[in-house]
Amino acid sequence: MESYLNTAIEIAREAGDLLLEHFRQPLEIAYKRRSDLVTEADRKSESLIVARLRSHFPGHDIVAEEGGGQRTGADYCWYVDPLDGTTNFAHGFPIFAVTLGLASRGEVVTGVVYDPTRDELYTVERGAGAFLNGQRLHVSNLGELSACLVATGFPPFASNHDLNVQFYFRFTQLTHGIRRAGSAALDLCCVAAGRFDGFWELKLNPWDKAAGTLLVTEAGGRVSGITGAPFNLLGDDIFASNGLVHDQMLGVFREVMENRQ
Ligand code: IPD
Ligand code: CA
Ligand code: CA
Repeated sequence: MESYLNTAIEIAREAGDLLLEHFRQPLEIAYKRRSDLVTEADRKSESLIVARLRSHFPGHDIVAEEGGGQRTGADYCWYVDPLDGTTNFAHGFPIFAVTLGLASRGEVVTGVVYDPTRDELYTVERGAGAFLNGQRLHVSNLGELSACLVATGFPPFASNHDLNVQFYFRFTQLTHGIRRAGSAALDLCCVAAGRFDGFWELKLNPWDKAAGTLLVTEAGGRVSGITGAPFNLLGDDIFASNGLVHDQMLGVFREVMENRQ
């Protein structure tokens, strides 16, 4: 396992450096759908990562956001987001990351999230803890929702917005505040690092959350769906917290859904 993580670290750093070279430079931006951007930096980063993974692990599958890699049913599968936070990147807002998570028969076993603008490297292996630049991570110890800082995100298209806007509204009333920073992978890292006490999103892809969810659980937190259903890497919704406020937050999701107009 160690060599999987070390290789993932090497690749994530290389891809992060590539992103930094393109950051705040003139960029070609294309649209996958309305408000769903993709830049040449996403594509170059993905090509680099996929080529490196293929040469190190020819027997592993790769599922990467921009279509690189391929699923053949191999036991090991790398989930790759070559640039998480594309909209931020395209606007020069320095919150974005590279993330790679390795799943074995559907269960994430190791992963890395690299934030190149802060040179923050989050690493995790199942059963061996979560780390930021080599320092062990622990979720926060807040047990009162009213003292929490929480985070969410929205997909780049309109469906699902309504329910999450209602969650957003309610949690704004109940907590110290909500952050919508624009990188789900870094949001999950912030829960693992105790910077956020909870994070949810209604529609995320496996590459957004593979590494980050393992970081949260290895840092002592809890991950589920927004109804409390067991976490499903291939499912849509995701809710991660420090564990202590998990049930309180599940209660708020429930209340909002029951009172939904
Ligand atoms: C997006 C970011 C954002 C989240 C979106 C994702 P991308 O990923 O993680 O925070 O709210 O749902 O699609 O498109 O920048 O890789
Ligand atoms: Ca993403
Ligand atoms: Ca992406």
